[in-house]
Amino acid sequence: MEATLEQKKIRTSTDFLPLNGTDHIEFYVGNAKQSAYYYQTAWGYELVAYAGPETGVRDRASYVLQQNKIRLVLTSSIQPEHEINLHQKKHGDGVKYLSLWVDDATSAFEETAKRGAKAVIEPTVFNDEFGSVVISAIQTYGDTVHKFVERKNYKGAFLPGYKAWKSNVPIKSVGLKYVDHCVGNVELGQMNNWVEFYEKVMGFQLLLTFDDNDISTEYSALMSKVVSNGNGYIKFPINEPAEGKKKSQIEEYLDFYHGAGVQHIALETDNILATVSDLRSRGVEFLYVPENYYEDVLERVGQIEENLEDLKKLNILIDRDDEGYLLQLFTKPVQDRPTLFYEIIQRKGAKSFGKGNFKALFESIEREQELRGNL
Ligand code: FE2
Repeated sequence: MEATLEQKKIRTSTDFLPLNGTDHIEFYVGNAKQSAYYYQTAWGYELVAYAGPETGVRDRASYVLQQNKIRLVLTSSIQPEHEINLHQKKHGDGVKYLSLWVDDATSAFEETAKRGAKAVIEPTVFNDEFGSVVISAIQTYGDTVHKFVERKNYKGAFLPGYKAWKSNVPIKSVGLKYVDHCVGNVELGQMNNWVEFYEKVMGFQLLLTFDDNDISTEYSALMSKVVSNGNGYIKFPINEPAEGKKKSQIEEYLDFYHGAGVQHIALETDNILATVSDLRSRGVEFLYVPENYYEDVLERVGQIEENLEDLKKLNILIDRDDEGYLLQLFTKPVQDRPTLFYEIIQRKGAKSFGKGNFKALFESIEREQELRGNL
């Protein structure tokens, strides 16, 4: 299985959907103003742009937050029957757009549409005094949408319709650099269909497969496949529940999100000790892995540069593959529903996803599920 990592080859010359990276992730939330405050104060994002009544947008408020290459957009509607509010009513706070940065949003749309993508936004040009942007979009799992954003002729703060805006609280970055991967949870039996969608419609390649032997505890199990685009900048693991004695964490997600959606977003840091220490001090809650995890972890992963006691103090997990090691940690869900959470990851050569930590992590998630009465 790990050997399939070798299959990841740069195919830029034949890539019909060249992607430069994640452009932004837009959430539909119940109260964007307050969510934006949380992401600024707890997570260290800078408010860089805004659209809302004060800028002439009558039906919504959107806050654009940035930390290095990570851009989050938090959007609420101010009208009760608005599509944004219906999305939020059904799913709770969650990801609506996983937006991809392209050089040609028209070609991205045409190439994927002719391979079977369901159109959401036909290529459309938006202009303001800072230039023009082309946006198109296609449907993916659940109510989630991939936007293609072409911004090479644009110099504004975010997109036409948004105004440059500033945080009104002091911002201290926690050192998050870019989006490493975004994980989707899909319904039982749907994982392979969505993997096929990414392969056929978007030209991604299957990078890794985890079955229920890799990812199971005494009680619950899941299956996962990771797809990646040609240059490897975009990685989307797709999970589905597997049979277990009790309810799997994926089923819990699907029950509370009312369908498929984004389960977690992994954010890269080059100093996980500092990042997690800062986040903890600002009240961000992480999953707890028992101390005995650290008793034999070095036997499993070998030499690491960090001091094990420092990692243990912050409850950071370690894993190794053929190419190096990685450090990672997962937050608890960041809204009241047990749906979306974040992963903080520091890669030291490793290109995998922390398979050696799955068991400890899933036991930890199950303890939380039990507390919620959902196991
Ligand atoms: Fe992950």
